[in-house]
Amino acid sequence: MNYKHQFFNDYAETAHPACIQKLSEQTLQQEAGYGLDSVSVHAATLIRAKLGVVNDTPVHFISGGTQANLTVIGALLRPHEAVIAVESGHIATHETGAIEATGHKVIQMPHINGKLTPAAIEQVMRTHPNEHSVKPRMVFVSQATELGTVYSRTELLALRAVCDTHDLWLYIDGARLGSALCSENAACDWQDIARFADVFYIGGTKNGALLGEAIVFPNTILNNDFRYALKQRGALLAKGRVIASQFVALFEHDLYGELAQHANDCAMRLRTGLSELGVVFYTDSATNQQFPILSNAVVEALQKDYGFYTWEELNKRESVVRFVFSWATPMAMVDELLTDTKRLLNS
Ligand SMILES: Cc1ncc(COP(=O)(O)O)c(C=O)c1O
Repeated sequence: MNYKHQFFNDYAETAHPACIQKLSEQTLQQEAGYGLDSVSVHAATLIRAKLGVVNDTPVHFISGGTQANLTVIGALLRPHEAVIAVESGHIATHETGAIEATGHKVIQMPHINGKLTPAAIEQVMRTHPNEHSVKPRMVFVSQATELGTVYSRTELLALRAVCDTHDLWLYIDGARLGSALCSENAACDWQDIARFADVFYIGGTKNGALLGEAIVFPNTILNNDFRYALKQRGALLAKGRVIASQFVALFEHDLYGELAQHANDCAMRLRTGLSELGVVFYTDSATNQQFPILSNAVVEALQKDYGFYTWEELNKRESVVRFVFSWATPMAMVDELLTDTKRLLNS
């Protein structure tokens, strides 16, 4: 399909030139393998500085989000233990049963605005009281959520408290962490993530890297034997610095924040523009995914020129659609999309 531009996802472009540049600077440099090279050590140091965590906080570089999720969850849970997530959570909907394939049940709960609530966790604990059901041991949330919303500091604190009460690990999937932390209504920062999560990952794939995510263990004890878990799942890369070098590019001058901010700015331009035209949004996302509700006629007409997914058919006349913006989205393309939508809404 020959689109003017596509808004299907935030990994349609390869990588920010700075990531490629960093990689190409090392073509003949010989290094140790499996993440023990100087580039991985440097990238981990930059990330720790950003998070304000202690020097021995473990950081691992891994190729993708699903791999991060199944490796972390598979490594931390004992055979009878389970992870709690919202029904719309990535591990519940878009990972092909990867978590269940590690032998662990994903206990799915309804969401509010894409988010898991302490009340939902309490409910799980009440309904899993003993050895006749799986033992809930971990809470999985995405920051930002699959619906583009963001947990505030207060909400994270409340999740942490309920996890402490019930002896649950808190795992934050940060595939879109940059977008979450740069969003207008974030009210939470890097330090909060490191303070509240036992383990989390920082998404590179969706924010400028060719590929790669950085798994961080603020709860350092959980890192015991994690390299064994990585290796066993084929996730310990011989050339781990291919990923680490991109994180150096992204974190040495906060390119990571700049790229996420740009994606969010594009998203908010669309949101403001469509809101002024009376369009209603499915969620109050201030991140790089936007979910306007449009008539099916407008959707069909727009899809002739622009690539984007229909998220959900609301009724016979209207659908929720998803527009995703990336570090590379030209702002002029957002304006063109707005102009075309306005014309269609007024026709
Ligand atoms: C929140 C979240 N987690 C994990 C992933 C998984 O990433 P991948 O498909 O690269 O394994 C995605 C990708 O869309 C995601 O949005």
